[in-house]
Amino acid sequence: VLGVAALVAVALGTPTPSARADEHCPWVGSTRPRAERVAQLMERMTTADRVRMVSGIGLEAAPFGGVIPVNARLCIPALELADGPAGVANGFADVTQLPAPIAAAATWDPDLVERYGEIIGREARGKGIDVNLGPTVNIVRDPRWGRTFETYGEDPYLSGRMGVAYVEGVQGQGTMAMVKHYAVYNQETNRNVAVGDAVVSERALREVYLPHFDVIVDEAAPASVMCSYATVNGEHACQNPLLLETLKSEWAFPGFVTSDWYAAQSVDAAAAGLDVEMPAGFSLGTPLEQALARGAFPRLRLDDMVRRILTQMFRFGMFDGPDPGQQAAMVTSAVHAGIARDVAAQATVLLKNDDAVLPLDSSTVDSVAVIGAAAGPGALTRGGGSSQVDPPYVVTPLEGIAERAQASAVAVEYAADGPDAVALAAQSDVAVVFAALHETELADLSTIDLAEEVDRLIAAVAAVNPRTIVVLNTGSPVTMPWVDEVAAVIEAWYPGQEYGSAIASVLFGDVDPGGRLPVTFPRSLDDVPASGPEHWPGTDRGVEYAEGVFVGYRWYDARGVDPLFPFGAGLSYTTFAFDDLRVRSEGATATVEVNVSNIGARAGSEVAQLYVGYPDRSDAPPRQLRGFERVELEPGETARVTFRLDEGAFARWDEQAHDWMVDPGDYRIMVGSSSADLPLEARLHLP
Ligand code: GLC
Repeated sequence: VLGVAALVAVALGTPTPSARADEHCPWVGSTRPRAERVAQLMERMTTADRVRMVSGIGLEAAPFGGVIPVNARLCIPALELADGPAGVANGFADVTQLPAPIAAAATWDPDLVERYGEIIGREARGKGIDVNLGPTVNIVRDPRWGRTFETYGEDPYLSGRMGVAYVEGVQGQGTMAMVKHYAVYNQETNRNVAVGDAVVSERALREVYLPHFDVIVDEAAPASVMCSYATVNGEHACQNPLLLETLKSEWAFPGFVTSDWYAAQSVDAAAAGLDVEMPAGFSLGTPLEQALARGAFPRLRLDDMVRRILTQMFRFGMFDGPDPGQQAAMVTSAVHAGIARDVAAQATVLLKNDDAVLPLDSSTVDSVAVIGAAAGPGALTRGGGSSQVDPPYVVTPLEGIAERAQASAVAVEYAADGPDAVALAAQSDVAVVFAALHETELADLSTIDLAEEVDRLIAAVAAVNPRTIVVLNTGSPVTMPWVDEVAAVIEAWYPGQEYGSAIASVLFGDVDPGGRLPVTFPRSLDDVPASGPEHWPGTDRGVEYAEGVFVGYRWYDARGVDPLFPFGAGLSYTTFAFDDLRVRSEGATATVEVNVSNIGARAGSEVAQLYVGYPDRSDAPPRQLRGFERVELEPGETARVTFRLDEGAFARWDEQAHDWMVDPGDYRIMVGSSSADLPLEARLHLP
């Protein structure tokens, strides 16, 4: 009876009825070793069963992004995949709209990002989603990329640490993570077509576009890796032998490689290492069956594909008990909203704060003008595209500030724009102008300027009120022609549903603005590495990654170009000092210690950052991030921060040896509060 019930249950795509072993499907609920259970199941699988495991069911998957179908006869549950890296997307309701991933990165706080991932893993599981399509860890090669908001910024070390934290958070809740998009996917223009071919050096691949995938695979063991829309040095990512062999052979990735949607080009992709095609089997359905029938596709490869998928399904307990998820479940909660608010506040980057105009002090401020469409119902709390999460509500900046101001008996008035806004600013003690720039998948930006009318409004307000504060909602760097005219600037990114409560807590000083830039803000597009169309967005000969390893701050530092705001920058409401730097070398590794002290009068958080400079012979960027730690300090408190540098911290990729090398010579160990503010330095000689 149990067996029949199991078959009926699974046939409906609902869970197997119990965790007890099942006579028809002895691998269900078994306590045998995972590999044995997989083998036992695969012995019963026909070729048709196996082919059915390696591609999705297409658009019938809705509301999921993709589904590998149930196999009732073999008690294999359906595998349900849904976006994304900023929360449960794909139109699911009653979920938490978290701040954008670029905001999570701006916290420089892996523990907080792990909690961010836990929310997504828990809410996905609650909805019956087995695989979360995240994190997006691609490097921001150019600030015009339409998906910058969805990434962790321009540096592979920071992206790796954030990606590890996210994957551990998601998978700790029993949901699989699919780290994406592997690899060299850095623009929307010409994505998924060969003319978008990224012509990139081996050293840039190894030192910028791949290392964080290696770290995430090695440390967080994601169930799956999504191969990207990019074509890399002439071969599509989903059938690129170099990329796939590096992932599966060199890094020994045991999970399954899934194509981005419609990114599989042919059955050759599976031969090269692709394991699952989404959203449907255009290549890995009938064409694969035909290739198998004529002996043109190795059966052992098909077995490996299926084994990889099943192994992860067994690892995540999909054969051990009922799937608790319900698509209509209420999975958001006050606790999740509270964490969303914390992340939004800790992601807030205070870029300028002349005369300590912030935090707002009710002893000197009686009236606040809140200005801009972005402060009201039009508040921009998320980016566009597959990562878009539908919020249960949004606390707008105006709502958040109005509520918080009551507690301080500060009057708040609102004007969207135009003469009324300028007049209101003129008669208020402080003017807070909210400005937004929308970003989305499927479209790159043509400029990094705010809309002209927005720049004009900011300038007009600043002209009538010396205490003008600008709050930006952008997913990537923007120019600020008015920056010298305003008293304060905050980058709040896309802060999610709790935006208003988070920004109000920062503006009134209840929370110290803890954010630091995960991406450089250049003064203008003239300063970015891509100086011509051949570099961005490319020509019919592809996209020349001519800058090589000199991406982001690596470029500006090497060229001596002064950015508007540097990578890692961000102010606090208090001040910090660094001292007592100690470096102990142990062979090709080192331990670095430093004191960070809060020398101000308010509690606050600092991110101690460690950069390494290589010997000239290494032809490396002047400094590269190799460690960071966020510390929360009371006034007068000192923290002793320790960084451990392994050999990789001093390595560069040698294109002759096709391997990592550590050049002998003197290395510079630099510690401070941003890539451009490193007051302490020590030399380390490596033999
Ligand atoms: C998209 C995106 C990918 C997403 C997938 C499913 O095109 O590139 O990030 O997970 O399709 O929506």
